[in-house]
Amino acid sequence: LGCGKIARVGHLPWLARHPGVEIVAVADPLEKNLALAARRWRVPRTFADPSALLDSGLVDAVAICSPPWAHREQAVAALERGLHVLCEKPLAPSVADAGAIAAAARRRPDLVFQAAFQKRFQPGFEAVREMVRGGALGQVFHVECSWHNWIPDFELPWMRRLFAIARRFGIDPARDLGAWRQLDPRGGGDFLDHGPHYFDLFRTWLGEVTHVSAHLRRLHPGFVGEDQANVLLKFESGATASLARSLNVVGRPHGAETGAVHGTAGSLFWRAPHEYTLRPVKLRRYGVANVIPNVATPVRYRGRRLASYRRQIEHFVRRIDGRSREALPLAPGLAASAEDGLRAIEIVEACRRASEACETLEVAPGAAPAPRG
Ligand SMILES: NC(=O)c1ccc[n+]([C@@H]2O[C@H](COP(=O)([O-])OP(=O)(O)OC[C@H]3O[C@@H](n4cnc5c(N)ncnc54)[C@H](O)[C@@H]3O)[C@@H](O)[C@H]2O)c1
Repeated sequence: LGCGKIARVGHLPWLARHPGVEIVAVADPLEKNLALAARRWRVPRTFADPSALLDSGLVDAVAICSPPWAHREQAVAALERGLHVLCEKPLAPSVADAGAIAAAARRRPDLVFQAAFQKRFQPGFEAVREMVRGGALGQVFHVECSWHNWIPDFELPWMRRLFAIARRFGIDPARDLGAWRQLDPRGGGDFLDHGPHYFDLFRTWLGEVTHVSAHLRRLHPGFVGEDQANVLLKFESGATASLARSLNVVGRPHGAETGAVHGTAGSLFWRAPHEYTLRPVKLRRYGVANVIPNVATPVRYRGRRLASYRRQIEHFVRRIDGRSREALPLAPGLAASAEDGLRAIEIVEACRRASEACETLEVAPGAAPAPRG
């Protein structure tokens, strides 16, 4: 359901090459995306109305790749019709909607519901998870991540001109270029779209989140939602994690996504390429033995070349087949549930409340005692 960018990069190619899967039908209200998917992956049936596909009785499972505002209706309807569901993140734009999906999944424990947090399946991040949980870094006390892109203000004169030219060629930026994230209030904005990825991943490394503090801003008045987010999470272990997510950092065209895990026995640094490139995450380790030579050690891990999307699909299909306990190449329990998807939205909303409450202390000039002498 939905034949846009993520369907074309993260779902259809991997479903098509999976020997246990037959892509029976695709649905999308946008004719050109529907036709493109049907042609490229030789899909026999197409539906302009996604609910007609759900009612068709043709399929056993669906991948929900529509924009977030459509997820609740489609996920609940699919579960009620006895279909297994792989649902893109964010699970839904609000806790209320995500909660309705989780409740529907709970009512059908016989069906597989998987939230599409593919970073869990990124082999490099799985190696990080194993190192953190296996104690290879000692006691982990902090994780940090910066995930930056640059999306210019759409109100800038040259952007207005660019969009006007695009429209002349029939291209609607919100509909065709993914700019619904910045322009459509139903989408919930960039922080809702990107924050859940790392909130979820950090939970698989560090356990449950207990507290959040956040400073969320919108630097582009014309965008919906927050485009500048600085978040601090506290976990039940006492560890903390910071996420800096921005649409305002001028840099590489694909943005930058880097981070580090800090433990008492060492630190692990990661650099993640843009997921659509399907390239591996780079890991470097710095332990006590690295201090004197001052050289980080590259970390090698299994399955470097395996795309996270491919592994995600593989896992989904295996779970439907009832083979989820097969150990390799996928650790059991790696998939995200509807509850995990809901939890990420709860964290997003908690960050918003924390940011609005502005639970910070003012540091007024002159408030500190004057130095003596
Ligand atoms: N896992 C990831 O890393 C990742 C990456 C990108 C997008 N996503 C998520 O995937 C979803 C889709 O994002 P995208 O980048 O593919 O957007 P997109 O705009 O490229 O594609 C969305 C498609 O859904 C179609 N659509 C609109 N309303 C629909 C409806 N009611 N039912 C079915 N289809 C409908 C559109 O016509 C379009 O073809 C979003 O939830 C997004 O956050 C996840």
